[in-house]
Order: sequence, then C-alpha cells, then structure tokens
Amino acid sequence: PTPQGLALRGDLLDFGAQPGWAALEDPAVRYRPDHWLLIGPDGRIAGVQKEEPGPEYRREDHAGKLILPGFIDTHVHCPQLDVIGSYGTELLDWLNKYTFPAECRYADPAVARAGAGHFLDALLAHGTTTAVVFPTVHKVSAEALFEAARQRGMRLIAGKVLMDRHAPDGLRDDVAQAERDCIDLIDRWHGVDRLSYAVTVRFAPTSTPAQLAMAGALCKADASLYMQTHVAENRSEVEWVAQLFPTARSYLDVYAREGLLHPRAVLAHGIWLDAQDRRTLTNTGAQVAFCPSSNLFLGSGLFDWPAARGAGFAVSVASDVGGGTSLSIQRNLLDGYKVQAMGGHRLSAWAALHAATRGAAEALQLGDEIGSFDTGLLADVCVWDWARGPVAQARHAVARELHEKVFAWMSLSDERNLVRSFVAGRSAALPTVG
Ligand code: GUN
Ligand code: ZN
Repeated sequence: PTPQGLALRGDLLDFGAQPGWAALEDPAVRYRPDHWLLIGPDGRIAGVQKEEPGPEYRREDHAGKLILPGFIDTHVHCPQLDVIGSYGTELLDWLNKYTFPAECRYADPAVARAGAGHFLDALLAHGTTTAVVFPTVHKVSAEALFEAARQRGMRLIAGKVLMDRHAPDGLRDDVAQAERDCIDLIDRWHGVDRLSYAVTVRFAPTSTPAQLAMAGALCKADASLYMQTHVAENRSEVEWVAQLFPTARSYLDVYAREGLLHPRAVLAHGIWLDAQDRRTLTNTGAQVAFCPSSNLFLGSGLFDWPAARGAGFAVSVASDVGGGTSLSIQRNLLDGYKVQAMGGHRLSAWAALHAATRGAAEALQLGDEIGSFDTGLLADVCVWDWARGPVAQARHAVARELHEKVFAWMSLSDERNLVRSFVAGRSAALPTVG
C-alpha cells in the first residue's frame, strides 16, 4: 500500500499530567526514548510504539533527536517583531517610543499581511505551533493574522486590539466601531478551522470605561470567546491605573467588575498582584501568562509563581515579544527559571516544559486538541537537536539523569536546535538558516 500516515522516530517527551515542582523523578513525565510517533492521514496522533511501523506509514527517522509537542506561546505581539531588542526604557516609555509607532504601520493592509506571514513563520521556526496573539487596533491586522494562520493550518487565538484613549492618532478606535469590528471578526473567524477569537483589551489605561463594558458584554454573550489583556506589569502602570479607576479595588478589579475574567481569559504578567487578586483569578478560572524575558528586559519585576500555585490559578509561559527578546520558548523558560531562582525557588525542566505544552493547552481548554502525544490529538510536533555546538554537546554527553539532560537542553538550546516542525501532521517549518 502507499503510505498514508507518517511515523517519526526519536526520543519522545511529553506529559500525562502536571508534574510537581520538586520531584525530579515524576510519574507525569512520559519519556519514551527511541520510539515511533504515529500520525494518521487525518493529521492526528495515532499512537506511540517501540516497534518499527508498517508500510502504511511513511517513516522519518530522527533517531537520537528529541521530539516534543509543539510549544504554546500564550502571549506575543505580532507587530512587535519590528521593535524587538529596543534599548533603554521601562514599559510606558517603551510603548510610546517604540511600540506605538511600529503598530501604526499596520493600518496598511499590505504591511499587516506581510507582517502576519513573517510572524507566523518565525513562530514555527522557533518550535511554537500555537499562540495567543495581539495584532494591532486595526481590523485588517487581525484579519491578516487569521488568514495567515488558516493557510498554515495553525491553532491561533487572536483578536483586534481595543484601545480608544491614551494612544496616538491612527492607533485609537471608538466604542461603536470597535464593537462592529469585533462582531464581524467573530462571525467570520471564531471557530473556523483552528482559529478562535479573543476579546483583546490592550490594558486598562488605553480603554475608556465604556469600552471595557463593551468588551465585557461581548464575553458575557458568548462563553466560547477568549479574552486577553495585560495586568499589573509595571509599578508606574499600576499607579496610573489607580488614578484612572479610583473606585476599583485593584488593577485586576478593573477587569473583574466588567466580567472580563473567566476560564478563557489570559492575563499577561500579573507581577504586582495581592492575595485577593490571586483568589479572584482562581475563582474566575482566569490564567496568567508569565513573561520572564519581557519582565527582565523592561525591568518590570519578578513574577511570584509559587504564590500562583498556592492560590491555584493556571500559569503558562510566554515570550511577550517585543517586550521579550526571544520567540524561543526554551530561552523564555530559562529566564523563567532565573526569575524564580531570584525568589529562592527552583523550576524543574518538567514544570517548565509542562507549562509550555500540556499545561497551557489545558488552561486554554484545548487539551483535547494539542499539548501532548495523547492519541487523537492533532499532531503539532517538533523535532529538536539535543545539542548543537561543542559546549552543549559536551554537556549533553556527560549528563546522566534524564532531568539533567533535559534541563541542560532547556538551558542551552534555542531555535537553532529545531530540526523540523509539524502542524497537524504536515511539515511546517525547517529551521531558518543564515
Ligand atoms: N501593556 C500594554 N501594552 C503592552 C505591550 O504591548 N507590551 C507589554 N509588555 N505590556 C503592555
Ligand atoms: Zn504584551
């Protein structure tokens, strides 16, 4: 028979459940060295086996390579690739000096389309197969992103950015037009293929109370919608929000009282929260996207992950490019490890990689589609070199324990280690060279 499915050979690593933080040997870790990952003609995972598969599978032999579920970046800005690595500012100045000017260019449909394609190809070339994305205020920027993700067969969550004040000309909407644009985009893209719409409030300072209420009403009308925003990232930002919303108990409360917190709400940062805010996140089912590279680069602060665990809300890890300086999830996990180390805690490779795969998938209510090698899930899969270059190779060679090997990989690898990525079982990206 002509082969219908695809079988990938390599060292398979995924998670069957959430691992603990401390235990380095953890039953949640599923490490199956030198196994075959079977992918059916429908692009779904058909199983994992030790034996060589039959002729119904086309075989790709990646023996000696690491195979992981595609990474999930739960907070990243498409237009900000143009300002990644911009010098010298904290959040509010960084927005005005670099970010808002770059986003203004996305009013032009040609810029938005080219930017969306470039951005999604960059994600795939970094081993990220799913993302929760901010485009710009311009309707066309969201369209372009959905269109480009659909062409690539990618799972994508995005929505037009809502901002009707405290932003330059060309980067503000108004409540009525924004509502029409959201409704139209939801009609045309939400639930189409692997796309979902997120009501996208940039952050409290750039929306009037009327716009926040409109955004909340959209969420209340359809529980299948996501919501994404920023919260409690920077101390000056927190002070500004307190001035703008004097009757709110806290920054988070600005969102809570409008009904913007729910199980499909993804809030980036959450550094400057208090215990009551954490309880609110847990009670509403909302989750935080921890953005360590961005938090370090912009000098925003150190996210308290153990407090989040104690409270019981979900935490994923995100690049927040261009506040973050790399789309590489490994780089971001390593920064996450360092941030937690500053608080006296140690993030295991298991906790880190789970947060970037199955953990994020489950928190996004996408655990039946992505995040692991469970049979029936769509095969969003990446093949990685265990080690590149003499230093990493020598380190890999002396590692004895599995956790030691994987932690060294997480610490020393980046997108240059990517061998291939697959989206729903189809080859999606070869590494970028040059
Ligand atoms: N807060 C509001 N907008 C932004 C943004 O674009 N990036 C980050 N890091 N924080 C924000
Ligand atoms: Zn952001």
